[in-house]
This record gives sequence, structure tokens and C-alpha cells, in this order.
Amino acid sequence: MNISIISLLPELLESPLNHSIIRRARDKSLLDIQIIDLRNFGLGVHKQLDDYQFGGGAGMVMMIEPLVNCIESLTAKTQYDEIIYLTPDGELLTQPLANQLSLKANLLLICGHYKGIDQRIRDHWITKEISIGDYVLSGGELAACVLTDAIGRLIPGVLNDESSALTDSFQDNLLSPPVYTRPAEFRDLKVPEILLSGHQAKIEDWRYEQALNRTRIRRPDLLTNE
Ligand code: ADE
Repeated sequence: MNISIISLLPELLESPLNHSIIRRARDKSLLDIQIIDLRNFGLGVHKQLDDYQFGGGAGMVMMIEPLVNCIESLTAKTQYDEIIYLTPDGELLTQPLANQLSLKANLLLICGHYKGIDQRIRDHWITKEISIGDYVLSGGELAACVLTDAIGRLIPGVLNDESSALTDSFQDNLLSPPVYTRPAEFRDLKVPEILLSGHQAKIEDWRYEQALNRTRIRRPDLLTNE
């Protein structure tokens, strides 16, 4: 899979996308990430990228020309399955959406700043708009990192234990059950007996019950959103 990311602050993307599981995916050539500095497409000597909004009002808007020039320099070489704009008024990122996007070959992510991007870009170039939650970030970079991480770890071969992504919270609309590791007893704190019993079927039943209880208490909305 190839993910291209257009950003005004490429340095902000470097560290999160160069560590841990995403680093491994890149090293194994399962994921290719290309970061494009939008400043290179800025207009004039000042490399201008934003301007005042028509109609007045506080806050600058990212201009159409630099962004479209940048997008078209990429689409001339690659056919993208989706051109995604990260924005708080987009579709909420969920596990099913991440699953769906992890099956694509080429994604182009666009990070916004200020008051956002000129609406004409959204109307004519963007194919999907995604929000990572109901709060406003200073720019789209952190959201692009979250989206890339959520997608990247789902690419076959990226995680060592293939089943591990499938047993994550949300994959079956349930939160994950509690997990424990050695020692079986720390001070007077014991691991639930059942997990030491060796009865795999009973352990799975117990885990399912725990997941269900946890979901009922913490996220009852997941059980009604079928
Ligand atoms: N840009 C600013 N806030 C955002 C959010 N919540 N999700 C995606 N992109 C954003």
C-alpha cells in the first residue's frame, strides 16, 4: 500500500510514522509513505499558501491553486483510490472504516490548517472527508498519523501475530477483555483462576463475558449500533 500525505508541517509527521509497527511495515515494504511539503507549491516569492476569506471573518483559508497543483502533480503519476481530507466535520473514523481503507492500494491524505481549505477543492478533488473525533486539532497532521497508524497495522503481514488485529477492541463491536501476564501473583493481587486452568474453551467463554460486560458498562452505544 502507498499512502501519500500533503502537509504544511512535514516534520510533525516524521516521528510518529517512523517508529514501532508503522516503521516495521515500511521496512518490510508493505507500506510506502510519501510526505509532500505543500510549501514547495506556494505562490510567489513568499510561497504563499493561505489568504483571507471572502465575505470577511477571522482566520485564513488555504488557497485552491497551490493545493490543486500539488494534488495534480501526484495524480499525474499515481491513481489514488481515495483523496482524503482530514477535517473535524468529516465522517467519524471507526474500525470498519479503517478496515475498508486498509484494502486500498493508494491513498492520498491532505492535512488542513487555519480555517481549512477552499471549499472548491472539497467539492471537486476530495473523495472522502474523515474526522478522528469531535474536537478540533490545530491541523490535520496528527489526524493523518492516527489514520495511517489505524490503517497500516491492518495490512496483512504487518503484525507478527495475524490474529492480533482481529481480536482488537471494536473489531466485533466489543471492547477487549482484560489481559494479564506473569507473575500469577503480585503481592496479594492474583490473576483470575480461569486463565491458569488450561481449559481453552472455558477461557474463551470467560473472555467473551468480560468483553461484553466491559462494553455494557463503558460503551453501551456499541451494543445498540448494530
Ligand atoms: N483537523 C482538525 N481537527 C481534526 C479532527 N478532529 N479530525 C480530523 N482532522 C482534523
